[in-house]
Amino acid sequence: MTSLLVTGIGELTTHDDEPAGPGPCAVVIEDEHVAWTGRARDAPAADTAVDVGGRAVLPGWVDSHTHLVFAGDRGEEFAQRVAGRPYAASGIQDTVDATRAASDDDLAARLRRHVDEAARQGTTCLETKTGYGLTVADEVRAARIAAAAVDEVTYLGAHLTPAGTTPEEYLDLVCGPMLDAVVEEAGHVRWIDVFCEDGAFGGDAAARVLAAGAARGLGGRVHGNQLGPGPGVGVAVAAGAASVDHATHLGDADIDALAGSSTVATLLPACDLSTGQPPPPARRLLDAGATVALASNANPGSCYTTSMALCVALAVLQCGLSVPEAVRAATLGGARALRRDDVGHLRVGARADLHVLDAPTVVHLAQRPGVPLTAAVWRAGRRVPA
Ligand code: NIG
Repeated sequence: MTSLLVTGIGELTTHDDEPAGPGPCAVVIEDEHVAWTGRARDAPAADTAVDVGGRAVLPGWVDSHTHLVFAGDRGEEFAQRVAGRPYAASGIQDTVDATRAASDDDLAARLRRHVDEAARQGTTCLETKTGYGLTVADEVRAARIAAAAVDEVTYLGAHLTPAGTTPEEYLDLVCGPMLDAVVEEAGHVRWIDVFCEDGAFGGDAAARVLAAGAARGLGGRVHGNQLGPGPGVGVAVAAGAASVDHATHLGDADIDALAGSSTVATLLPACDLSTGQPPPPARRLLDAGATVALASNANPGSCYTTSMALCVALAVLQCGLSVPEAVRAATLGGARALRRDDVGHLRVGARADLHVLDAPTVVHLAQRPGVPLTAAVWRAGRRVPA
């Protein structure tokens, strides 16, 4: 067993019920886990020590929604969008074409680059999805490549009905042979997801996808209420899905349903900014008692950023959350959305995922938007290369 004392912490966010109190704080890591937190003057001895010089320390970001197994570039689509053309799900097909044409090595290298980029910005637990393959072989390949690189893998065969097939035929494939192959051949796939939106899959189809996944042992996630009101939230809550993601266009009934459920509302404010949607109703959701997560939605089309700090800043500056509420949503909220107890907090026993800010408090995350504030990161007790 090796131990490390991280001391000189100016502000420590653990999400513990009993905060360490004022004054310099410290964390002791033993191997991969948090072994002790408290005031620096009470800290036990450890094999080695590092003084973070009064900086803020918080749990690593838990980014519970990304689409990072892809090839190609949609810069031209983005340029047209900022010139006034609305975002449409049909752009997904361009990435599907480029992804199918790419080699395994190319897809794995691109994924690694984005995962590393996120880690350097403090993301220590990351989910990613398939969904740019949309054939049995391409979805299995995407899931296999993802499983080798990230913490959590989601099967999103139900992203879009690809060119050359009918919606009915494709839904049969997604809920049948494609699902079987992903579960049996890819390994480490825990979730099934469906894009429930006009132009993608309707409420009945989404419910069928979730039920088929549940029958194969996969937990449910739903892309819902992204581009307009719709059945996504209702379907997710009825199925006991772990989260409904986007959740931008919500009526009172959607908010009440989420507040009375264990389904997390995973908000993607950087995506809403990038696609010209209104900011998500984070304040209404929290006030109603719903559990809220923040995630990046890093993908080549609707939101090409891995910056969780940007999402926190937007949640504060555009959605009415306090900084601690936004930080909680981007750490503990993400862990809840992935139904994980070991990440998203720094209580004793947690995975030692520490994010040191080049700032005295987390307030700077919103006060200094766009400034890279990550000073150091530990993931599972190991220092992430800068
Ligand atoms: O979460 N909504 C569907 N899927 C992605 C977008 C993917 C794309 O445009 O390539 C999203 O925004």
